[in-house]
Amino acid sequence: MRTLVKNIGKLVGIQLSGRQRLCGAEMNRLETLDNAWLLAEDGRIAAFGRMDDCGSGVAARVVDAEGGMLFPSFCDSHTHLVYAGSREQEFLDKINGLSYEEIARRGGGILNSADLLHETSEEELYRQAMGRVREIIRMGTGCVEIKSGYGLSTEDELKMLRVIRRIRETAPLAVRATFLGAHAVARAYAGRQAEYVDLVCDEMLPAVAREGLADFVDVFCDAGFFTVGETARILKKGRKLGLRAKIHANELAVSGGVQAGVAHGALSVDHLESMGPREIEALAGSETMPTLLPGAAFFLGMNYPPARDMIRAGLGVALASDYNPGSSPSGNMRMVISLASIRMRMTPAEAVNAATMNSAYAMGLSRDYGSITPGKVANFFLTAPMPSVEFFSYAYQTPLIRRVFLRGEEYTEQS
Ligand code: NIG
Ligand code: FE
Repeated sequence: MRTLVKNIGKLVGIQLSGRQRLCGAEMNRLETLDNAWLLAEDGRIAAFGRMDDCGSGVAARVVDAEGGMLFPSFCDSHTHLVYAGSREQEFLDKINGLSYEEIARRGGGILNSADLLHETSEEELYRQAMGRVREIIRMGTGCVEIKSGYGLSTEDELKMLRVIRRIRETAPLAVRATFLGAHAVARAYAGRQAEYVDLVCDEMLPAVAREGLADFVDVFCDAGFFTVGETARILKKGRKLGLRAKIHANELAVSGGVQAGVAHGALSVDHLESMGPREIEALAGSETMPTLLPGAAFFLGMNYPPARDMIRAGLGVALASDYNPGSSPSGNMRMVISLASIRMRMTPAEAVNAATMNSAYAMGLSRDYGSITPGKVANFFLTAPMPSVEFFSYAYQTPLIRRVFLRGEEYTEQS
């Protein structure tokens, strides 16, 4: 099947360098082409060029972009979008002055979601999650990583991961699955954290690997959650079973999580609201992608990660939504790139690269996704005509995304 998109006002995010990620000053280079066309064939980008050289073609289908821009789909490399119900009661607790850690210590937070998930059938969980998947697709996301971590027992972690597998099989976007058994210590193991870590290593991880349910392993390595030593143990076991690490680190404190992630070859270390120069140094020259989740900092009223310091030090950074019921009940990647500019002083070009190329890298998918490159999967969206790329981040509430294409096919609610 061939689809020709013509009259594109600006084709955004062209990448012909063969790079798998963009670092430091490269992040501010967002290549574009004015008055363009793009041809998708069999779900991949076949070619693009300027409208002056656009032949009538033998395309089966012609799409008129009417002067709007074409962007590569967002890649959201960190979400927890499989969850049961919602947690607006804690939203009220927060308004009344409790911190995220205080809520967690009182047995709320992640444990609250784990109780709800336990009572919810796999079918119902899938139904709720698919509602969120459709929502993020409409908002421009074409690749997503989804974590377990609200099960906290072998049975319920597997239930979550099976739901993620079903989403992967039925939804038109690309999905990566991460096992996050070490998200919190299960209620049944209160006061017995070491035994819970044994359960994660000796029972959960082997069961997950046996069924081939996860691509990555994650640990919430932070103050009040899992220690650096426990994290190392879980990551080593995951590696043995073929799961690469992507971890939660330095959200609540300078936890040593960044160094632990780098030491264990993590593909990404995520959150990083608490960073010092040593953490930046540890990341320099590594394969690990620091991933910033400004939606969580916004929702919880935390400090934002020092994105400028990281980019100045030559690091690449990725952006993701952290879509989850406790710290970021939104998967809106446009909001994420706007927050990156407003609160972390990332340029719109840096933010778009961080939310496409670098976030694809943070899922191990940048060979096939994250830019307008011949041969990559034809996941992109069309916008209304805009005066500039910067306008997309600036007019952050205007509904500018008009049409979404995944694997070269237009996405509609019937897709
Ligand atoms: O990424 N930090 C740990 N986990 C999630 C929050 C999960 C929750 O509160 O339900 C996060 O922010
Ligand atoms: Fe998270």
